[in-house]
Amino acid sequence: MNILTLESTCDETAAAVINDRLEVLGSVVASQDELHSRFGGVVPEIASRAHLERILPTIDGALKKAGVTLDEIDAVAVAHTPGLAGSLLVGLSAAKALCVARDLPLIGVDHLQAHIYACRLAAGVDVFPCVGLIVSGGHSSLYHCAGPIEFELLGATIDDAAGEAFDKVAAMLGLPYPGGPAIQRAAESGNAAAYRFPRALMKDRDRLDFSFSGLKTAVRYQIAGPGRPDFSQIDLDDQEIADIAASFQEAVVDCLLGKAFLALRKIGLKTLCVGGGVAANARLRVRLEEEAGRENIELHIAPLRLCTDNAVMGAIAVERYRAGLVEPLDLDVRPGVIRTKQRR
Ligand code: KG4
Ligand code: ZN
Repeated sequence: MNILTLESTCDETAAAVINDRLEVLGSVVASQDELHSRFGGVVPEIASRAHLERILPTIDGALKKAGVTLDEIDAVAVAHTPGLAGSLLVGLSAAKALCVARDLPLIGVDHLQAHIYACRLAAGVDVFPCVGLIVSGGHSSLYHCAGPIEFELLGATIDDAAGEAFDKVAAMLGLPYPGGPAIQRAAESGNAAAYRFPRALMKDRDRLDFSFSGLKTAVRYQIAGPGRPDFSQIDLDDQEIADIAASFQEAVVDCLLGKAFLALRKIGLKTLCVGGGVAANARLRVRLEEEAGRENIELHIAPLRLCTDNAVMGAIAVERYRAGLVEPLDLDVRPGVIRTKQRR
């Protein structure tokens, strides 16, 4: 059985062909980075228009790479939640159109679950049950993943996501979009102990939530005092930029590690899976490996090519199909971001 998987939740248009043995026959990712970079972040209207232009060539490309025609596709899977409404609609509409035209079953994919499934794919063996940490541009979330499609939210960011903080701090430092890779590069020559930025909620051992907006504000005040500065006019030398980048990155990594390993202890599990764009961060990967070694935790981090958005991780559709989870053709998008409500 071959499944065509589609991904258009944010600013990557992606398609892949995967068979029910979880073999990837072909995959294409069309990035929109160059369209959004001058704005320092994703502009939803631009993203959805770009998806519209790219979705059909991307599907064609994936089929060609796989060496199959639509006649050899047995189901269509699409990420329909969470994400940007206009972006999600493009992928979902394309998937529905194919299902109607070809009389194929439609499989709905949760984009966050797919990010964790990237670890399962790369491992080549079962990784469940596990704690799943998803760190992306829109999400920083911890899940108890009892099985490949049984996810229970343990905690999430109450404000900015980790990747969002990377992108915003990069913009303040005059570094290019996307900010994560740029901060990582700058941090290589920086001193992570140069500035002591806050690590929110770390002392609260009852909560598995994250908060990065205070950290972002602390960086902002380090760069420029109160008021409304024009960041393009602020003159930092390369060493200051490197030190701020390294100190900021270390603070994010401390928070992610602290809560992920707290979740493992609370749930009583020994396996941690980490996915999403920020999981590509070299410092985070090293620190996770070190801590997992110390705590005797089986660690799976998505391989670099499967960290940022792609349709290969839509292979989770195979699990849903096996469980009989086929969607009606009036399936809707569920946009937005998953946040934990701030407790008083
Ligand atoms: O998962 P993803 O491609 O899209 C969403 O679902 O949001 O994640 C994109 C995010 C961006 O915020 C980007 O800055 C961040 O992942 N990112 C990184 C790195 N590579 C990408 N953050 C830190 N270090 C990296 N090396
Ligand atoms: Zn993502």
